[in-house]
Amino acid sequence: MIQPITSIKNAFSLNGKKALITGGNRGLGLGIACAMAESGADIAILCRDAVRAQEALAELRQYGGKYESFSCDVTKLESVRAAVKQAWEDFDGIDILVNNAGITCFSELLDMDEDISDWYKVLNTDLNGTVNMTYEVGKRMRDAAKGGAIINITSNAGLIVNKTQPMSPYSSAKAAANHFTHCMAVELGKYNIRVNAIAPGFTNTDLSEFIPKDQLAYIINQMPAGRFGEPVEVGAMAVYLASPAAAQVTGTVQIIDGGYILSC
Ligand SMILES: NC(=O)c1ccc[n+]([C@@H]2O[C@H](COP(=O)([O-])OP(=O)(O)OC[C@H]3O[C@@H](n4cnc5c(N)ncnc54)[C@H](OP(=O)(O)O)[C@@H]3O)[C@@H](O)[C@H]2O)c1
Repeated sequence: MIQPITSIKNAFSLNGKKALITGGNRGLGLGIACAMAESGADIAILCRDAVRAQEALAELRQYGGKYESFSCDVTKLESVRAAVKQAWEDFDGIDILVNNAGITCFSELLDMDEDISDWYKVLNTDLNGTVNMTYEVGKRMRDAAKGGAIINITSNAGLIVNKTQPMSPYSSAKAAANHFTHCMAVELGKYNIRVNAIAPGFTNTDLSEFIPKDQLAYIINQMPAGRFGEPVEVGAMAVYLASPAAAQVTGTVQIIDGGYILSC
């Protein structure tokens, strides 16, 4: 059983926690890393781009904790296994896993190449990458018997069909990752591991720069909040889900999209 909080004081703190964040070197993952670091957590970043990883670590150092990066391709189980082992040993355990690494593609299915390669690339990263990481970290969390929190960064595109861009592989992968979140919440609850998803909408990162400029006005007009989200705002939600304040929250998909999903 996961113990409830008895007071709000320090309930949102991540002091003493160790978080492993895939794709924490830039974009949304870096926003989550900074928010968690500012809330007291040590951070292990897993990604491929070592230069961006060093830049991210330099940014994190202002918060005064332990920050390291480990090379990892989440689509390859052997790479995941090696990186998780390194991070687990270096940090002496991991309390929080954020499955954030992701890619997209904008194409209708029938316009894809003969190998349907875009479909497999996106599914291998956005769905299978999350599964690979959950398997490797989840087993270690179970064996350490200290509980944990897993947060899957999905998308509001996993809940709607976004008319502005055709992206069936992305939407399908994110929808599956949302339901994977439900399944894991049930399977891992007995180990005191909570599993939740965050489904962001349009957020200012490298990924959102692929949106055609002529669609921006339409997209923003559909958002009651009137603007794209910022990585730190997704970070704030991730801090809450990882914190003791969320001890009773598991198996949820939290939408943070400025209200876009209501009227798109
Ligand atoms: N931005 C948005 O509007 C938005 C909206 C909804 C959901 N999301 C989700 O938020 C997450 C982050 O997106 P973002 O906007 O921050 O994208 P981004 O700026 O393009 O960053 C993508 C991140 O994923 C990592 N990554 C991709 N493939 C990887 C692989 N095979 N192995 C390891 N790392 C890999 C990248 O690491 P490298 O630098 O090493 O390649 C990078 O850190 C994704 O899951 C995305 O679907 C974003």
